[in-house]
Amino acid sequence: MSSFRRRALIAAVSVVGVAAVASVVAFVLRAQPAVQEFMVRYSGVAEPAAGTPVGIPVWLNVTHVLNVLFLLLIIRTALSIRSKKRPPAFWTPGYRVLGQAPRRVGINVWLHNTVDILWVINGAVYLVLLFATGQWMRVVPTTWDVFPNAVSAALQYLTFTWPVENPWIAYNSLQVLAYFGVTFLLAPLAIVTGIRLSQAWPLDAPRLNRWVPEKPLRRIHNWVLFLFMAFIVVHVGLVLFTGAVHNLNVMFAASDSMSWLGTTLFVVSLAVLAAVWFALTPSVQKRLAALSGKVR
Ligand code: HEM
Ligand code: HEM
Repeated sequence: MSSFRRRALIAAVSVVGVAAVASVVAFVLRAQPAVQEFMVRYSGVAEPAAGTPVGIPVWLNVTHVLNVLFLLLIIRTALSIRSKKRPPAFWTPGYRVLGQAPRRVGINVWLHNTVDILWVINGAVYLVLLFATGQWMRVVPTTWDVFPNAVSAALQYLTFTWPVENPWIAYNSLQVLAYFGVTFLLAPLAIVTGIRLSQAWPLDAPRLNRWVPEKPLRRIHNWVLFLFMAFIVVHVGLVLFTGAVHNLNVMFAASDSMSWLGTTLFVVSLAVLAAVWFALTPSVQKRLAALSGKVR
């Protein structure tokens, strides 16, 4: 077993173990009258700020599904870079990257960075629209009440009662914190640490490189991968197990209904995803990479 697989297995077993212990503790806590009073006071969903828009617009569905597509390709190439296997080809940019002399990289690094650019553009569009439309108020905590409500929601998840919320109106506080965390902390961390590893970084600046050393930043960049994968497993698991038909309508069909439209669009998006995934064979990657540099 590779060291990555072994570490992933140990991490998965530890998470299940910690969750089991946390669940027992949560059941004991929920039996206490004081905790029951606390949970009546804090239902798990903080009151939305005045003026928070109701409903999810189509642009949010589109940027969300593109984000899924790009992130899966980023993760695929990240795992391929991590595997340290010799890539099927190498790419040397045909231009200076932010003034740096062109450096040769594996074709998997080329694909990783090409998709990174698309991912960052999509993320920027999402953020601009989020702030232009007031939708930010659903994913940025606007009151300290999110913290006790997040504790309440956690106690509910751990005791296998799903917090009562309607994602069309407001997310529960644990969702707010998780969505805020991936959008405003994890994604920027990926970008900042990724730039240090990229061809845009000057390698001939010894003082700068002493202040911003490669090794710890590469380690943080790897942690980003682990945290994104953990988020995705929990997020997709909860979406599917807490009312999949309604959740998928909200995020894939901009609809609050119980129709099958969202589920259908979700399945279609999975098919598109698989088509792109399998279309990106090494020979297609080489042809695409040759458009912007030398491939050997
Ligand atoms: C691949 C990585 C993914 C990331 C990083 C991600 C991230 C997010 C974020 C940040 C939000 C809140 C957006 C907002 O309201 O502004 C969200 C909501 C949502 N996502 Fe994802 N998502 C991912 C994959 C998926 C997938 C594959 C599904 C479908 C199975 C899905 C279903 C949903 C749903 C239904 C919501 C609405 C809120 C809810 O009911 O929890 N997501 N996601
Ligand atoms: C704009 C965002 C990003 C940039 C600029 C970026 C940049 C890079 C670069 C340049 C490398 C190649 C390093 C080398 O040549 O050795 C790399 C590797 C890697 N990237 Fe990213 N990346 C970004 C986003 C992400 C994201 C979102 C993830 C995780 C989901 C990720 C996970 C990884 C991993 C695990 C590696 C392998 C690191 C190693 O162990 O050597 N990257 N990234």
